[in-house]
Amino acid sequence: MVDSTFRTEKVQQSRVKDVDWDNLPFGKIFSDHMFVSDYKDGKWSDGEIIPFGHFTIHPASMVLHYGQAIFEGMKASKLEDGTPALLSPIEHAKRLNASARRLMMAEFPEDRFVEAVSQLVSLDRDWIPPAEGSALYLRPYMFSTDEFIGVRPSESYRFCIFTAPVGPYYAKPVRLVVEQNYVRAVPGGTGEAKAAGNYAASLRPAFEANQKGFDQVVWMGGPDMTEIQEVGTMNIFFVIDGEVITPATDGAILKGITRKNFITILRDQGYKVTERKILIDEIVEAYDAGKLEEMFGAGTAAVVSHVAELQYKDKLMVLPDVAERKVGPMLKKYIDGLRTGRVEDKFGWIVKL
Ligand SMILES: Cc1ncc(COP(=O)(O)O)c(C=O)c1O
Repeated sequence: MVDSTFRTEKVQQSRVKDVDWDNLPFGKIFSDHMFVSDYKDGKWSDGEIIPFGHFTIHPASMVLHYGQAIFEGMKASKLEDGTPALLSPIEHAKRLNASARRLMMAEFPEDRFVEAVSQLVSLDRDWIPPAEGSALYLRPYMFSTDEFIGVRPSESYRFCIFTAPVGPYYAKPVRLVVEQNYVRAVPGGTGEAKAAGNYAASLRPAFEANQKGFDQVVWMGGPDMTEIQEVGTMNIFFVIDGEVITPATDGAILKGITRKNFITILRDQGYKVTERKILIDEIVEAYDAGKLEEMFGAGTAAVVSHVAELQYKDKLMVLPDVAERKVGPMLKKYIDGLRTGRVEDKFGWIVKL
């Protein structure tokens, strides 16, 4: 159990007994409590845990007009003995602050971030779903709250964390299309920040890809739109002739925590992992030579999302069956195992509550 650092107002009656654990829709059910802290006059309020509920918002609240809004996505799970656990929470605290710096927002102290998440999850531990592969999804986020019209950084912010139980994420292998008309991010833009506006900008390309029968787009960059960046809201990995490659973070790519953990696990197991610029033509060449063994997305929600098919111009590349793949399935099993305590936490990523 974590010490109670933050003042806590508990709900009179928990709603957890009403949850249908066998039918958990993603992102629609919210647990009993949330954490809130406000930034004003150059400092953060103490922060408190209160019953989950609505905010009121001023019509001129700056976030509604100029979009200073950033967020994180993390998960809490239960170890086999029932202890709640977090994976790499400090990395999420650091990334939130990296996003804050890019958008000229106030940074939230990283130790307080981890304490707040820990205390909130500890309090709502009964909301961590029992089934393997399911989790309590955590959503830390920050937005500007100055009541002001005019483009400048806000001087006040709200930082909030709420949590949502989510069912096991059985991601079926996805069909992707290489997107060369729309761009997600360019070096020097906001792609490296987890900024709300990035996701708004991705909706039109994702919609158009869906209309054509694809699940998601592969984001491209570079002067000719031939450099592979990410897939949907995940980082991307390829296995070519036994070597694992992933695009180097060049300022346009979100620095995924799953990506970072995967690279560490793979190198530890003796895989050759290379972070570098990857051109779409190389992938086509590898495919034609029969050397494109795997392609998958990496992110907190699904952990691994296998790619079944990749469409580039008029060429359709069909990847090997998931049953024949080694790297992606191993990584998924490893992370799920860390989250249940079945895999030894040799890198010290797990925080037990
Ligand atoms: C655009 C984008 N890329 C990559 C990721 C994967 O990051 P992580 O592994 O930290 O979840 C996410 C999800 O947070 C994302 O939104």
